[in-house]
Amino acid sequence: MESVQATKQRFGIIGNDATLNRAIEKAIQVAPTDISVLVTGESGVGKESIPKIIHQLSHRKHGKYIAVNCGAIPEGTIDSELFGHEKGAFTGATQTRNGYFEVADGGTIFLDEVGELPLTTQVRLLRVLENGEFIKVGSSKVQKTNVRIVAATNTNMFEAIEKEKFREDLYYRLSTVDIHLPALRKRKEDIHLLFRKFASDFALKYKMPTIRLTEDAVALLLKYRWSGNIRQLRNVAEQISVLEQNRNITIETLRHYLPDVGQNLPAVINNSKSKSDFSNEREILYKVLFDMKSDLNDLKKLTMELMENGNNKDVQKNNEGLIQKIYREEEDAMDKDDMKVLSIPQKSTHEVDIIEKTNDKYHFVEDIEEEETLSLHDKELELIKKSLERHNGKRKLAAAELGISERTLYRKIKQFDL
Ligand SMILES: Nc1ncnc2c1ncn2[C@@H]1O[C@H](COP(=O)(O)OP(=O)(O)OP(=O)(O)O)[C@@H](O)[C@H]1O
Ligand SMILES: [Mg+2]
Repeated sequence: MESVQATKQRFGIIGNDATLNRAIEKAIQVAPTDISVLVTGESGVGKESIPKIIHQLSHRKHGKYIAVNCGAIPEGTIDSELFGHEKGAFTGATQTRNGYFEVADGGTIFLDEVGELPLTTQVRLLRVLENGEFIKVGSSKVQKTNVRIVAATNTNMFEAIEKEKFREDLYYRLSTVDIHLPALRKRKEDIHLLFRKFASDFALKYKMPTIRLTEDAVALLLKYRWSGNIRQLRNVAEQISVLEQNRNITIETLRHYLPDVGQNLPAVINNSKSKSDFSNEREILYKVLFDMKSDLNDLKKLTMELMENGNNKDVQKNNEGLIQKIYREEEDAMDKDDMKVLSIPQKSTHEVDIIEKTNDKYHFVEDIEEEETLSLHDKELELIKKSLERHNGKRKLAAAELGISERTLYRKIKQFDL
């Protein structure tokens, strides 16, 4: 039997953590059998290497290995993808098609994100697992296949079962053996090791000297939560390797690449908190946008009424709730200290007067839209400026933080003349 060390080398797995070693050992032990395996663990912990190990170390290694991301296939086509369909089974089915279970006969299928499978597909899958039988979509002929299944999930399957989104019988059938991969933050000793490995790989790739972390930067690396696990660590190592001229990375530099690490921004929501982060700001901006949209819809409704019926007492009375909602809510919000930074500028009561006094309904609507557009621009400008400051003008990082492409950011910089 291949040793854990040799397997790690063969599959490029870095780390000496005992739970990681145990997971690999389990994969090696279970590989020669046909037992179904469920690989669990947070996103980015390296689940995808386990089914590869199992397939390669099994008697099926010369057979096909098919990896299917169940979360990425639309519900309407997944049965046909997995089990195939007959010609004419549905509109567009011009040919008979063999599904993965037929193609991978004698091999292994890796069902990634298995928790995302629709319930109807789960029934079909259970049948294959139990007796190797399946039926093509639109057919009545039972077919046989000999496929080994390894599945993976990063979601809580017990919760899914409780919410009746996943069949309990299928869960137990899939997880005859459960291989759990630990989160990176629980593998403290591997964090720096992995970082050094990635740093050296990227130094080679980009033909630059290897980056090195100062002692306090290493301490931060170990303390950080790494919610994106090894995938996130790898991305951070790559970004720093490409962007930093000084190859000695201090804690201050590292901080810029780790979301949610104490950036001193002005308190946005709650004055009692001295720190806030960018995602907070963005969430608030979204909220403001949604509120604006809702207001705009209300205003459209009101405008239609005014256009159809004119500005009379009845219209005002019928829409009292709407008028209250649009104007009073904002006044209330402005009273609250803690929404000062990003709340919509207060509209003066003269705008309510406009509804009562003016006959020019269009003018009223334009006023509001213009004001909203302006405040939106200000906020966007402010967010871009802050992000660029935080990243010392580095557009790539700012764009990543803002969730836009570098090109879009470049356009905005030109547009706002930054
Ligand atoms: N121990 C490791 N050594 C080296 N690289 C690793 C290790 N574990 C994971 N990686 C790398 O981290 C990245 C993420 O791994 P992988 O795609 O397997 O995550 P995952 O657990 O399937 O995540 P998700 O649930 O989001 O699909 C890959 O680029 C993989 O090569
Ligand atoms: Mg994956």
